[in-house]
Amino acid sequence: ETVAALRAQIGDKKVILGLSGGVDSSVAAGLLSRAVGKQLTCVFVDQGLMRKDEGDFVEKTFTSLFDMNFVRVNCQERFLQALKGVTDPEQKRKIIGTEFFNVFWDEIRHQDELGYFAQGTIYPDCIESGKGDADTIKTHHNKVKMPEDVQFLGLVEPLCDLFKDEVRKVGTMLGIPKELVWRQPFPGPGLGVRILGEITADKIRVLQEADWVLRDEMAKNGYEKEMAQFFCVLPCVKTVGVMGDHRTYDHLVAIRAVTTDDFMTADWARIPYDILATVSNRITNEVEHVNRVVYDITSKPPGTVEWE
Ligand code: XMP
Repeated sequence: ETVAALRAQIGDKKVILGLSGGVDSSVAAGLLSRAVGKQLTCVFVDQGLMRKDEGDFVEKTFTSLFDMNFVRVNCQERFLQALKGVTDPEQKRKIIGTEFFNVFWDEIRHQDELGYFAQGTIYPDCIESGKGDADTIKTHHNKVKMPEDVQFLGLVEPLCDLFKDEVRKVGTMLGIPKELVWRQPFPGPGLGVRILGEITADKIRVLQEADWVLRDEMAKNGYEKEMAQFFCVLPCVKTVGVMGDHRTYDHLVAIRAVTTDDFMTADWARIPYDILATVSNRITNEVEHVNRVVYDITSKPPGTVEWE
């Protein structure tokens, strides 16, 4: 029904979608591709703040499995420049969000034909962004104001009546790989809110490597599905350690893993000590500039899932 409705709405016009690699925009992209194929352009803004190798995975998935125009804009430098010296979490979120859309609007301005603007907003996003009564919203949700010179024929929101589990079902039916359909929630500002304080290219690298070790061990031990979210955080605290005969003064990495039904409340996941021990050994051995690993044992509330 949705594919037919999309065809009817879009007709022979073009449609453009911002693809983040998250579940929602991926499923929206799949549906739109099924409906209108090459009339669809997906713009994937790679801000350099994704988990290791995720950008390449998203690109490979959509260029190999779906009929569409896929544009990847690599703009880590632009984001690092905009974030230079910025330490306040809310300001970081705002800058990342604003830059993301600036890149996106620029891409749209380069399109040669006026088309529709598609968004992967799902039902709860619509509510949280002000359609309903929810009074507390974070600044990350997908509803955005468009600049006056960016024009569209109209808005297309293929997922606006669906809850997350329904979106996943649709994604599976469309043949989207389970790594994307079952992807853990990932904040829009990405690793930007998992690196506390100022963000630099070096810190991003350290965090990506440490986080990759955690993902690898969770996958090897079959723990991926046991918890709603697990990831590493770089608090940008240095501690003293010892390696061989040398004293070190290097980064601390924190592991955050939670179980939850709705993300409004969460409990810290009881990852077995043996797995934590392996993760800790591997991170300190394999990731340069990390000499200590800690495990976050705070539930939500009082702690949030993300550290910033
Ligand atoms: P918190 O940290 O508020 O997170 O307990 C609850 C859930 O929301 C995700 N999260 C975000 N998602 N943009 C997003 O798209 C954000 O700025 C953001 N902050 C938190 C978080 O990963 C968790 O799943």
